[in-house]
Amino acid sequence: MLNEKEILYIQNEIRQIFSNDYSGHDYFHTLRVYRTALSIAKEENADLTIVSLAALLHDVDDYKLFGEKHKPCENAIAIMNSIAIPAELQTQVCTIINSMSFHSKDSHLLTSIEGKVVQDADRLDAIGAVGIARAFAYGGNHQRVMYDPDCKPKTNMSTEEYTASKGTTINHFYEKLLKLKDLMNTESAKKLANQRHAFMQEFLDEFYQEWEGKR
Ligand code: ADP
Ligand code: NI
Repeated sequence: MLNEKEILYIQNEIRQIFSNDYSGHDYFHTLRVYRTALSIAKEENADLTIVSLAALLHDVDDYKLFGEKHKPCENAIAIMNSIAIPAELQTQVCTIINSMSFHSKDSHLLTSIEGKVVQDADRLDAIGAVGIARAFAYGGNHQRVMYDPDCKPKTNMSTEEYTASKGTTINHFYEKLLKLKDLMNTESAKKLANQRHAFMQEFLDEFYQEWEGKR
């Protein structure tokens, strides 16, 4: 397990990396993913050191923050080197981080239980009440309108289409968020996802009712 000093060191690094992010990738997203991942990891008997490192470092090399030219896992490796994480462990962590990003239907599959746990925790943070808040924060940050009844969702987009898509934030629920419940890897995450999914559906129902002046 990582000791308290190591965890604090990593948390400080992350706080700096995400200090100017308003797109839903802030420090607190990482902290929530870390906590959720740890609790799922305990239920699934996954290795807690690998899960902790991968959860804390899962977004520090994201192509959306650093561009497509950024070397995979570069920031994560620098941070792990500073606290002398052994090379073999670093490789396992980087394998997870590199395969985690959701690129529409081309998203990679995670093979280790630790990867599955961290991916589940990251995806859980995109749904439910927090997920709804993040989606609208991201939408505003990317100059997307909240909703346009004439703009229909496009499901089954390729990676290129998904990245270039200029749809509404409500469409994002149909293009990604409502699909996540069925993409959970672990049983523990599935239970949490079901609750969060139901809350999003309730939110959408209420949203349309209010939009049409029915409530
Ligand atoms: P992560 O890298 O944490 O897996 P993403 O980078 O895909 O997540 O997205 C970060 C947050 O922004 C998520 O909560 C996601 O739902 C939201 N988001 C991503 N794309 C869109 C979009 N097109 N419209 C609204 N929200 C989005
Ligand atoms: Ni994330």
